[in-house]
Amino acid sequence: MRNKVTIVGAGNVGATTAHWLAAKELADIVLIDIVEGVPQGKALDLLESLPVEGADVSVTGSNDYAETADSDVVVVTAGFPRKPGMSRDDLLKANADIVGAATEQVVKHSPSAVLIVVTNPLDAMCEVARMKSGFPRERLLGMAGVLDSARFAAFIAAELKVSVDNVQAFVLGGHGDQMVPLPRYSTVAGIPITELLDVQAIQRLVKRTAGGGGEIVALLKTGSAYYAPARAITEMVDAILKDKHKILPCAALLRGEYGIKDLFIGVPCKLGAGGLEQVITITLTAEEEKALNKSAAAVRELVDVVHAQAQSR
Ligand code: NAI
Ligand code: 2OP
Repeated sequence: MRNKVTIVGAGNVGATTAHWLAAKELADIVLIDIVEGVPQGKALDLLESLPVEGADVSVTGSNDYAETADSDVVVVTAGFPRKPGMSRDDLLKANADIVGAATEQVVKHSPSAVLIVVTNPLDAMCEVARMKSGFPRERLLGMAGVLDSARFAAFIAAELKVSVDNVQAFVLGGHGDQMVPLPRYSTVAGIPITELLDVQAIQRLVKRTAGGGGEIVALLKTGSAYYAPARAITEMVDAILKDKHKILPCAALLRGEYGIKDLFIGVPCKLGAGGLEQVITITLTAEEEKALNKSAAAVRELVDVVHAQAQSR
């Protein structure tokens, strides 16, 4: 029997993720959206591409969560994307309602699923999903680190004129302007980039990575990035469905690792069939630790708003 993946939100990120998952023949896919016709139309279009691709999976679209029953993985992309001049954080309150409602439905129909949150502001939306789902941390993750690290890797490869295959980049922290790209742990053919690039060049690439989402928003003007985000989500789904025990940077609920407790933030995570298998802790310099704490403080501010919003109801 094939695995089943539900994607909530059939917009740019959701539909593009469905495309990657189907092309890689990873699972049967259900696309869910509140807009009538859109998930059905996109699913049918994608399904009709599969004979050409030679991929045997089913793709269905619906406005009814009953169709999502017993999914192995559910990806939540429902919500508003950023517009020019809008920070990820401006999205907080509007998207908390959407993610909360979607999570309730997911839990009802797929109580054993691994839930991957994508909607922004990412780390705070993971907390919304945690409060609504009651899922253990093993089955609730956020996607951002794979994307942020991919951006860093793309910039490193272009700077050094090397194959992207040679580059392993690494970004810790929240998915906001305070994210923490880690040059010491970012390598080209195993060589730390600190050996290959001068400080100014590294700082330039780090800054571009932290502003990577905003750079695309400024260009697109009517939405935010979706090709790289969708590919990054696919990497996490692949690691889970294939039980790969693969280490990827993901937002996970920390329980004291890195000196941080009860907060979702991006850290290296080992992913397998049950979702999160292990949070990997690495040694940080005092400066890196300071940057991570600053990023965590920015996430905590948003989480406080989420908690206050929940209490006021
Ligand atoms: P989009 O506007 O193209 O798609 C969002 C979809 O959600 C729309 O089709 C909309 O109808 C649907 N939707 C709204 N409310 C819903 C509800 N209650 N139930 C089901 N569907 C609902 O936006 P896009 O570009 O797909 O982005 C989606 C979200 O993902 C945004 O919040 C964006 O900021 C975030 N994002 C996060 C990334 C990350 O690294 N964590 C990367 C890229 C995007
Ligand atoms: C990004 O980084 C919008 O968070 C999204 O592209």
